[in-house]
Amino acid sequence: MSDNNNSNEKMELIVSLAKRRGFIYQGSEIYGGLSGTWDYGPLGVTLKRNIMNLWWKMFVDERDDMYGVDAAILMNQKVWQASGHVDTFSDPLVECSNCKSRFCAEKIDISKCPTCGKENSFGEPRQFNMMFKTHVGPVDDESSVSYLRPETAQGIFTNYKNVVDSFYPDLPFGIGQQGKAFRNEISPRDFIFRTREFEQMEIEYFVQPEKWEESFEMWRKLVWDWCEVIGLSTESVHELEVPENERAHYSKRTIDFEFDFPIGRQELLGLAYRTDFDLANIQRVAGKSMEYSEKGTNNKLIPHVIEPSFGVERALMAILSSAYTEDEVNGEKRVFLKLPENLAPVKYAVSPLLKNKPELVAKAREVYEILKKKYGAVMWDDNGNIGKRYRRQDEIGTPNCVVIDFDSLEDNTVTIRNRDTTEQKRVAIDIL
Ligand code: GAP
Repeated sequence: MSDNNNSNEKMELIVSLAKRRGFIYQGSEIYGGLSGTWDYGPLGVTLKRNIMNLWWKMFVDERDDMYGVDAAILMNQKVWQASGHVDTFSDPLVECSNCKSRFCAEKIDISKCPTCGKENSFGEPRQFNMMFKTHVGPVDDESSVSYLRPETAQGIFTNYKNVVDSFYPDLPFGIGQQGKAFRNEISPRDFIFRTREFEQMEIEYFVQPEKWEESFEMWRKLVWDWCEVIGLSTESVHELEVPENERAHYSKRTIDFEFDFPIGRQELLGLAYRTDFDLANIQRVAGKSMEYSEKGTNNKLIPHVIEPSFGVERALMAILSSAYTEDEVNGEKRVFLKLPENLAPVKYAVSPLLKNKPELVAKAREVYEILKKKYGAVMWDDNGNIGKRYRRQDEIGTPNCVVIDFDSLEDNTVTIRNRDTTEQKRVAIDIL
């Protein structure tokens, strides 16, 4: 089988596992779906939260130079005029004159329609703005226009002055935000890779203009640390220096961090030098000073900005792709998710060896309660035989399975089985 087929097959296996085991379902599936939307099931939402909580801990809680915000998704339309999104946040759209399929001109070979195969069927591209437009309030006119935010970044820039006035932090400092972003992508595709509704985790890091390179390098290293923490191997992540003609309108330098997804090498996250583009625009359009007064001097300046921008779904897809593993146990194929323990949605599964022995069930319940109090993410599993339970837990990436047997009743020990090695050890309940 070619590499390409292998990759497609791996992607299909991941999508199927994600659905079967309650990680990710198609959005509005019961009504035939809604393109570019996905819903997270019980395990998916926990995995996603674990990723977001880890990010928040690493980049906000554990740092002295970071502040968090949570801004409204709907914002005054002036935000998107000032930021340049109303004028420039668009993709070139082409339509096939034969089958009427629409594509982003940059994503296909426009000499032949990918849907109907007709050659030279596309006219000139027209610019299609990707923001979802809506109206706020009961009046449907130009003054009530608003947009679902296409990036969380602007909620940070518009609160920069509030944070400075409340906390008066020294430069450099950063503001982080996590939350939904919306883009009316012309062709959403590849599972959760390109969707119309997704989540971002963004940092705007405010620096003295002449020191931007120092902070850019610091964040470049921190991005690599992040990739390691979420379990991506160094060989699977690549830096791409984005050439000037492909950079976003606000950026003077961008490095895309790409990952070897099963669908190919694609953007995982971005690191950009946004200069004073956003703060200067806010100052101009809102007519309010965005200057920062340096403590102990008469210096005033508009800080420049380094922006590491992470997509939650892309991180999740990279984590699932890295974790998806097949091996052979006792001559049988086994599928397991080798998730980092802190990201695994279930940390321990607890089972009585036999579910029709009340004394085993009672003891197992006791152990389950202890672990549940301690770790929270603990699952009770007494369905099928032990082998089947192990396979089920392997597939959802549970690092530890605990089994209570007749010896447990005598000596207060249990069997704990490791997901990756399948090794089983006898340990005392007290030290679990
Ligand atoms: N504030 C900068 C910004 O939004 P971007 O490169 O357009 O930059 C940042 O987006 C990240 O958001 C991407 O690297 C990706 O991880 C994620 N992202 C962007 N569009 C997405 C989409 N349609 N579906 C899923 N994730 C997306």
